[in-house]
Amino acid sequence: MTALPVIMAETPSAERDEVALAFVPVYARFPLEIVRGEGTRLFDAGGRSYLDFTSGIGVNALGYNDPGIAGAARRALESGVLHTSNLFHTAPARKLAEALVARSAASSVFFCNSGAEANEGAFKFARKWARGVGGAEKHEIIALRGGFHGRLFATLAATDRPHYRAPFRPLAGGIAIAERDVGELSRMLDPDTVAAVIVEPVQGEGGVRVLEASFLGALRKLTHERNVALIFDEVQCGLGRTGWLFAYERADVVPDVVTLAKPLAGGLPMGAILVNAEIAAAMRPGDHGSTFGGGPFVATVAGHVFERLSDSALLARVRENGAWLGEALRALAARRDEVRAVRGVGYLWGIDVTRPAGEIVAAAREAGLLILTAGDYTLRLLPPLIATREELAHGLSLLEKSLS
Ligand SMILES: Cc1ncc(COP(=O)(O)O)c(C=O)c1O
Repeated sequence: MTALPVIMAETPSAERDEVALAFVPVYARFPLEIVRGEGTRLFDAGGRSYLDFTSGIGVNALGYNDPGIAGAARRALESGVLHTSNLFHTAPARKLAEALVARSAASSVFFCNSGAEANEGAFKFARKWARGVGGAEKHEIIALRGGFHGRLFATLAATDRPHYRAPFRPLAGGIAIAERDVGELSRMLDPDTVAAVIVEPVQGEGGVRVLEASFLGALRKLTHERNVALIFDEVQCGLGRTGWLFAYERADVVPDVVTLAKPLAGGLPMGAILVNAEIAAAMRPGDHGSTFGGGPFVATVAGHVFERLSDSALLARVRENGAWLGEALRALAARRDEVRAVRGVGYLWGIDVTRPAGEIVAAAREAGLLILTAGDYTLRLLPPLIATREELAHGLSLLEKSLS
């Protein structure tokens, strides 16, 4: 407690505000208190409405105040069992695992509580499998330049953000970052020492980079040849965001492990690790676990959300509207000097700008549009997947106004 005045004196004002509010000052929050949401709109404490192109950083795929999500949550509450632990079976977790397996290339599922946890678990699963097929030396994990996989120790070591990593060294060992280059990966993927490669098929936090299907295909071929597990981190780009239920379907490349989180339980914390039969067969009771993972409350809601996000009509709309959004953004880039480039797919777009992205985010907020950054000079749009073409067009007109 005595250290508090020192923190207050040495830190910039946004962080001082956080400390004054009794928070550890790790977030630079927008000066907004959100009190209500409806569809694609959020409302602040002053009653002002905002078109939300952040989706809670990719979580609220079905928008706000969705009656289906509310109904599933109510049913789960009424069962009287919010939590039981993984000592017992529950129908919601079983049904959700069955649905994920039926709709994906995986043979089994592990439930956890966040994206970083899903990736940490995926690293453990891959290492256990690799040890079985290649011995204890086969344990290295390779991640890619521009990737973001979380902020826990192993995931931080796999995350290519120097300023997130530097204060926490030494990071977890046995994890290296490679360029997004098949030649370099071919040199690094020693079958005797490498257990797994982890890739975001669309890099979100790192600037919105859609990795080419040909690159992902070449990586799949290489990892097969070297007996290395291929992990796709679909925490941000999975579950419909690209217009395909799984981003790997878009590239027509089947990984060995897929990690999911953000939208899975409609705003409740949940992650999942989807694995193939060979990796599942390497795991034994006690190898991994989670007190809360797959609890009946979140699993009931996630069962409903997963069914909705699997809907082929919703996915087709995201593909079509996403293609339209891309064209509209390219047209914006052509007529505005402030826009240097646009990249993306589906409802996940990055816009490189000539001014600091934070300034444009603030101007957009003033204009009634909530957007994100993905780096100092890149804006990121993550509209809810229910956003109509009219809402997308309205958001773009607010964005254009905010550029100057
Ligand atoms: C691709 C990716 N992986 C992992 C994470 C970490 O997820 P969480 O914040 O739920 O731990 C994120 C979060 O932004 C992400 O975008």
